[in-house]
Amino acid sequence: MKKILNRPIKIIMLLLNLIIGGFCFSLISQERSALIGEGITIYYPNNYQSVFHEPSFALVQEPIEQGDLPEDRNISVAFDSIQGKSIATINVGEEVDFYGTGEVTGELLRNGKVRTLWNTDNYGYMRYHALQLYQSHPWVMGVRSDGTAIGVLADNTWKQRIVLDDKISFESEGPAFRVIVIQKKDPAELLHALADLTGHMPLPPLWSLGYQQCRWSYYPDSRVREIADTFRLKKIPCDVIWMDIHYMEGYRIFTFSEEYFPNPVGLNNYLHAKDFKSIWMIDPGVKYDEDYFIYKSGTDKDVWVKNAQGEDFVGDVWPGPCVFPDFTQQKTQKWWASQYKDYLATGIDGVWNDMNEPSVFNGPGWTMPVDNMHLGDEILPKASHERYHNVYGMLMVKSSREGILAAIPEKRPFILTRSNFLGGQRYAATWTGDNLAIWDHLKTSIPMVLNFGLSGQPCSGPDIGGFGGNATPELYGQWIATGVFYPFSRSHTAEGTNNQEPWAFGEEIEQVSRTAISRRYRLLPYLYTLFYKASQTGMPVMQPVFFADFKDESLRSEDEAFLLGSDLLIIPKWATEPSLPEGNWRTVSLVGEDSKNDAYQPEIKIREGAIVPLTSIIQNTTSYKLDTITLLVSLDEQEKARGELYYDEGEGFGYQEGMYKLFELKAEKNNDKLSVSVSGIQGKMEIAPFNIKVEWITDEPAKKSIASGEIVLDVNQ
Ligand code: NOJ
Repeated sequence: MKKILNRPIKIIMLLLNLIIGGFCFSLISQERSALIGEGITIYYPNNYQSVFHEPSFALVQEPIEQGDLPEDRNISVAFDSIQGKSIATINVGEEVDFYGTGEVTGELLRNGKVRTLWNTDNYGYMRYHALQLYQSHPWVMGVRSDGTAIGVLADNTWKQRIVLDDKISFESEGPAFRVIVIQKKDPAELLHALADLTGHMPLPPLWSLGYQQCRWSYYPDSRVREIADTFRLKKIPCDVIWMDIHYMEGYRIFTFSEEYFPNPVGLNNYLHAKDFKSIWMIDPGVKYDEDYFIYKSGTDKDVWVKNAQGEDFVGDVWPGPCVFPDFTQQKTQKWWASQYKDYLATGIDGVWNDMNEPSVFNGPGWTMPVDNMHLGDEILPKASHERYHNVYGMLMVKSSREGILAAIPEKRPFILTRSNFLGGQRYAATWTGDNLAIWDHLKTSIPMVLNFGLSGQPCSGPDIGGFGGNATPELYGQWIATGVFYPFSRSHTAEGTNNQEPWAFGEEIEQVSRTAISRRYRLLPYLYTLFYKASQTGMPVMQPVFFADFKDESLRSEDEAFLLGSDLLIIPKWATEPSLPEGNWRTVSLVGEDSKNDAYQPEIKIREGAIVPLTSIIQNTTSYKLDTITLLVSLDEQEKARGELYYDEGEGFGYQEGMYKLFELKAEKNNDKLSVSVSGIQGKMEIAPFNIKVEWITDEPAKKSIASGEIVLDVNQ
């Protein structure tokens, strides 16, 4: 398995380096490489030292070496050390389209782009030219002209740059690191392999697929009730109301303001009675206050990150001076996790972990100094913040998830995090941080969510309406109409901005919002099936249009239109001449809207050969029952269609023991009659026979036929 890489090229590079300048030193490394899975190879530089990188944060387990590399390798990996930087350069051949690299602004296609991986609190994406955002994904996905795919993962947490020119380079400020290369027949298989390596998103609770309403902050608690009541009164579907930092006592985490939220149990009961869930914020910064129980217990257990002198590091966040849990220590993880029990006993349904880059207002680059120390233990070694900065948020949400699961073992945790790292989909969903209420940020949100999906994170979304600044009615209307198709769909806005509820922009936009959100709820059976698939296979919920045909190069840079799963094409009204996949995609209407002539609602087109299951118009996910399902059927040229429907209790872990049902949906036209069959193909959940309505989507919508043929229902296999 020992292999010396491209020796002549390396010698030329060494000579070049020597010519370019005496200060420039290149260490030519030998490579050790091994097969670790089908089409998956790991490469080590000769100066690799596991103590700086293992245990891996991105990988769920240490790779198991399985033998030699196949002969026909069409890539090369070279390691260098130049001016103190550790560099891996992966030559993947010509004409490869690049994607991924995690959370990015700008175009979907990443060729020619640079991304710095150093988690940064970046209000309005205005710092560092938006090249550094809240999360780090040392991962690039490449698609060749023939549709085959290659992915490169740098197993490295240290500050690094990804440079995408004709090659892929990772330039790290830390020690030499290993690289994993995946080669698969198409991007779907590639993402499946990425999920197997870095972890699958756990199936979220059904309610988290509903529409969610947030602002910084709804307070006092009477305002929260008013918001909830207004949704129900106005018949605008909604599942979750969010509590931002004003609910706390002086921004002390795990406390409730006596003035504004004296009775959190009462508030949660109120919300639950109206079929809402509540999500409350927890930041990592703990107020430096000797009379505060969290500060006292953390200090007793000695859990705080240290400064270079070995004292507790103190930095400013919302409460003023704060200390920060050192999540590299298991004792800190356990201590942190244990805080959730009493907190969640108030009836809180989900947790929002914010400011976890970590953001420190008076620190260098809005974070802690890199010479701060994390003490670690027998699992993670003691090291400076430089090594652990990019995984601080990931370690936090890992501990949060463990705490939430321990407190309420029978429910699926839901955590939203601002900061995270490659593989972080194992612990939390995410949003794209502090965007602005501007058109550009509505537009960039599509490739942002798409590239998250192409980086292993299927569940993300931006603040609908924009966080900073005030949205105009037009912008909000366009944003909510598009935003109901994000995997995570939530309106949010900053302190001091105008109201941003669906009804805050006048009657027209209120109706636009109602229609848009109702469309999402009708799609719930389909959407939940997509989340199930994402949790099983790593296939993104929201996909670039080139996923309709991996070989069609004309689709590779389309970042306005997108796919929801493989069967629905979404074309926002603001899209300009989008490149659309070939085939007969037929326009559908979900709640009586005429999207071809509507100024806001994106056109939704169904793929020929697809069946998409819908529920009725419901006001929240609690009302979703498998009693009546409508099937949108769009036949292909062979007069056939197929689809799937996943169903389970929507909560809990019974599905892991088979308490679910996966149905295969089939339709076929014979002598002008449509036969439809629904049969259980997986899972042992007993399902009572349910009503099925069929909408046969033909090329002439005016003459849309309702199935006149037989419907065969064999729900229990
Ligand atoms: C920063 C977050 O990005 C934002 O969403 C939140 O509203 C504020 N912190 C206040 O908690």
